[in-house]
Amino acid sequence: MNLEAELKEILEELKRYFEFQKILGLEGVVVERKKKEESIQVPIKRPIQTEVEKEKPLPTIKVQEQLSIFDASAKKLTLEEIREEIGDCTRCKLHQGRTNIVFGEGNPRAKLVFVGEGPGEEEDKQGRPFVGRAGQLLTKIIAAMGLRRSDVYICNVVKCRPPGNRAPEPDEAGTCEQFLFKQLRSIEPEVIVCLGSVAAQSLFKTKGKLGDLRGKFHRYGRSKLLVTYHPAALLRNPGFKKPLWDDMQIVMKELGISTSSGSDRG
Ligand code: URA
Repeated sequence: MNLEAELKEILEELKRYFEFQKILGLEGVVVERKKKEESIQVPIKRPIQTEVEKEKPLPTIKVQEQLSIFDASAKKLTLEEIREEIGDCTRCKLHQGRTNIVFGEGNPRAKLVFVGEGPGEEEDKQGRPFVGRAGQLLTKIIAAMGLRRSDVYICNVVKCRPPGNRAPEPDEAGTCEQFLFKQLRSIEPEVIVCLGSVAAQSLFKTKGKLGDLRGKFHRYGRSKLLVTYHPAALLRNPGFKKPLWDDMQIVMKELGISTSSGSDRG
């Protein structure tokens, strides 16, 4: 690639990143020159968070034996059939405190599936995934990728709200994850994005740390799987925005989407 093309690509990348920042609520950036008094603002409203994690080289992790969820001989159910199978579930203790089962929603033929950990208060009330504060941020991330919620599929490891928004316990995740696997087998997306370590641990059957898993694709049956931060973690630590956006760029590149064009199947 010649210098001009390289510069053009860098500028495009910067443009996309600032678009992403804008969508997530940033209204301007501060450009500082060496001498403090000469610092200029372009167009300044709020400075960029500089608390970005130091990127470490990712160690290669040994993903444990894959589950047979993408086994071509395994029966492929429709999402409706899977929801029917769940029924008015009492398989684990989470059913005691739930208002609604939060099955998942979106395009049954999505190329991209987001997997979270479990419903929170608002999700439990509405029976829909990712509609609370973290969910609104996820919606913005999806929009920043040039997609709509209806283009992708969104679901969780557990379908009932853990009390007080605690993480699902191993027996709860272990009981419920069979339905997540069936959902993924049904949709067979090109890319699965695990939001946070609970989803990653459920799909990988590993106690691997999120920092070690993120930033690259892992093979997952016929899909590619990428682990990134949970949007709730971004709300607590805006320094995760940059690595999350880097992760979403990997996904967009894989799906052949640019911010100016959506993909045909989501
Ligand atoms: N957090 C999750 O992991 N899932 C939701 O649906 C909402 C918040």
